[in-house]
Amino acid sequence: MEQQKSGSLKFMDFCAGIGGGRLGLENSGMRCVGFSEIDKNAEKTYREFFGEEERNYGDLTKIDTNDLPDF
Ligand SMILES: C[S@@+](CC[C@H](N)C(=O)[O-])C[C@H]1O[C@@H](n2cnc3c(N)ncnc32)[C@H](O)[C@@H]1O
Repeated sequence: MEQQKSGSLKFMDFCAGIGGGRLGLENSGMRCVGFSEIDKNAEKTYREFFGEEERNYGDLTKIDTNDLPDF
């Protein structure tokens, strides 16, 4: 799919864990725009893999959808 190859297909990594799902989506050419994870140890590991810069939107049941980037 051309859209995926260009990296223009974006996703939010809800219930991110340590990012197994993200790895698969990124390997398919998709781009992650942020993640949501409540477990601090999972977040710590996730950041080891994917960096410190991205925003953790926290508890997905409390996210204001107007606050989310386009994906
Ligand atoms: C099965 S694991 C994640 C697996 C991960 N998506 C993957 O592909 O490897 C589920 C995760 O959801 C997180 N979680 C549970 N309730 C949540 C909530 N309300 N908001 C954000 N994360 C939540 C847990 O802390 C746990 O790390």
